[in-house]
Amino acid sequence: MPKINAERLISNLRELRSIGAEGTGVVRPAFSIKDMEARNWLKSLYEDAGLEAQIDGIGNVLGRSRNSGPALLIGSHSDTQPTGGWLDGALGVIYGLEVARALAEDPTTRHLAVDAIALQDEESRFLGCMGSHHYCGLLEPGFEQGVVDKDGISLVDAIREAGLTEAPRLQVDRERYIGFLEAHIEQGPHLEQDGLQIGVVDVIVGLRGIVFTFEGQQNHAGTTMMAGRRDAATALYEVAHTINQEFPKVAGDRSVWTMGRVNVSPGAPSIVPGYAELELQFRDRSEDVLDAFTALAHKIAEEVNKRGGASVTTENSRVKISPALMDDNLQKHLSAAAKAHTSDHWQTMPSGAFHDAGVISNVLPCGLMFIPSIDGISHDFAEDSFEADIIRGCEVFADAAASILLEATTG
Ligand code: GLV
Ligand code: MN
Ligand code: MN
Repeated sequence: MPKINAERLISNLRELRSIGAEGTGVVRPAFSIKDMEARNWLKSLYEDAGLEAQIDGIGNVLGRSRNSGPALLIGSHSDTQPTGGWLDGALGVIYGLEVARALAEDPTTRHLAVDAIALQDEESRFLGCMGSHHYCGLLEPGFEQGVVDKDGISLVDAIREAGLTEAPRLQVDRERYIGFLEAHIEQGPHLEQDGLQIGVVDVIVGLRGIVFTFEGQQNHAGTTMMAGRRDAATALYEVAHTINQEFPKVAGDRSVWTMGRVNVSPGAPSIVPGYAELELQFRDRSEDVLDAFTALAHKIAEEVNKRGGASVTTENSRVKISPALMDDNLQKHLSAAAKAHTSDHWQTMPSGAFHDAGVISNVLPCGLMFIPSIDGISHDFAEDSFEADIIRGCEVFADAAASILLEATTG
């Protein structure tokens, strides 16, 4: 079985962390200067590993093995949240590179084909999992027209600034690949709390969102009597409170909902707000539960409208991700490798975060593996994992990749 180089793995992860480092975290949003610096750095590492590397027209970096298929595609995303942790995405990208190198260095596996990939904008600066959606042919031609980030910067301009306007855009070669493997930090507390070292994911939850827009009458906070107000923020708080009261009644055991973006305008203590926005996001592994949340959210808005005061309208968010099942055979290989390396301290589990593997599962069999996150913290500068878990995870992942490819090439 191939042997990973633990020192090289950790050193590459640390170097990637240094590109966009802010304290213990990383700020490397899609198409930022630091994001493109990291993508160029990855391209040169892919080349050093003997892979044919290119950055495509939307920023995906592919390192293609010179061996013919059947091939395994391995990777994750290298962009981060606006205040991101150092391992979210980066772990899976560097694992992909390390597995490609480890298999190429071992005489028993050097004939196998591992392609490494660093996908673009998984973290939704413009469009969640944009790189994987595009790579899988799931976006319409010209999809980028009119897409802007939260600061109003257009995707077209961001692509131009990154120097990618003329670069060819890659599409997945379905004939070449037997599947896609992604490794990730868990980003939650379950593995650590249960004393486990590896999670093999069976299903990635789906996600939807709704934007509520409130319109009232802006007015003087001292002279406008409570009875006569059309206060946009009050209507917002009511909707938010009712969601927290009603959603548990239709929730599944792993359902979550978040109201992570609000805007109250003009945002001054002496002004009755005339305008407000609330963005609700909810996730579950069942499409039925997501349907129930959607219907309930619209009903809550209707009820608030009936009462008078500020009015509320609803619009479904642009990002909509369906629950995705991971492939049984890839799970079987990941589980066998996990069992061998952890004295059975591993489990099958759902993923509460979305991942590129969920998108790519539309066109290829996918497998997703987790290592523990310290204190379950992620999407925060404090995100971290123990070095021993990072190294063990890569050993499990490399063994699983080798056994998947050996099975596919020898039957
Ligand atoms: C991905 O980063 C997610 O928010 O689940
Ligand atoms: Mn993330
Ligand atoms: Mn991620």
